Amino acid sequence: MFKPSWLPLAPALGEVLLLSKASNAKRRQLVVGNWKMNGNLRENADLLVAITNGWQGEHGADVVICPPFPYLNQVREILHNSPIILGAQTVHDQDKGAFTGEVSASMLADLDCKFVIIGHNERRRMQHESDQQVAEKFAAAQKAGLTPILCVGESLQDREQGIYLETISRQLNAVFAHTGKDVFDKAVLAYEPVWAVGTGKTATPEQAEEVHKFMRAQLGALSEKVRILYGGSVKAHNAQQLFALADIDGALLGGASLDANEFLAICKAAE
Ligand code: PGA
Repeated sequence: MFKPSWLPLAPALGEVLLLSKASNAKRRQLVVGNWKMNGNLRENADLLVAITNGWQGEHGADVVICPPFPYLNQVREILHNSPIILGAQTVHDQDKGAFTGEVSASMLADLDCKFVIIGHNERRRMQHESDQQVAEKFAAAQKAGLTPILCVGESLQDREQGIYLETISRQLNAVFAHTGKDVFDKAVLAYEPVWAVGTGKTATPEQAEEVHKFMRAQLGALSEKVRILYGGSVKAHNAQQLFALADIDGALLGGASLDANEFLAICKAAE
């Protein structure tokens, strides 16, 4: 039986984790590539040709790509006839009107997006999105038939002060209070510690598993049904260790989604 190399002293624990993962066969693994503000017509085409050649649908995991808004239609056309699913990086909470520069959930649905990232820490921090706005965007996405990928995660300061579970609980509760928990059967969660995103520092498997278990418990009746991704410097070399954990159902990737070989290796590790 495969044993993750980070568990040499705890084979029994490793086996338990792997067994409980196997018993959760209903949660299909999901890998989401968040291109952030990267790419151009030429680079996108090259990247997508390499990715679609390497991922043709015989695999047991879902793969989503979230390009910048101007390239949604380009990516949609290239992914046509591919099992790779189109997603977006954010959305506005209103459906239409005088909101210069914004994009609504119905527009994303019109372009065949199926998923949308909500509350990414770069938007919470740099665009000052509040917990309440995140909750409203989550609801708007679902209303338009999109599956929100709700990101939560603590800052380095929260982690050092030992209040990381409080932060995550606050971020989750803002959405629960707005929509209720029942709607999470049509949502995905992502745990992204801010200190791990784009820094090359990944949470240890123990740190990630602790938070994923905590988040799962917060979901109440849906706790075993909802997919919870990990994000923050996931690369081909550490993906398998994270995916072996019972409560991790895939990854939200930034940097690694811009390199076809790296991206495909992670998608294959998720199967
Ligand atoms: P990273 O980004 O993989 O580059 O750390 C993850 C994310 O922002 O979703």
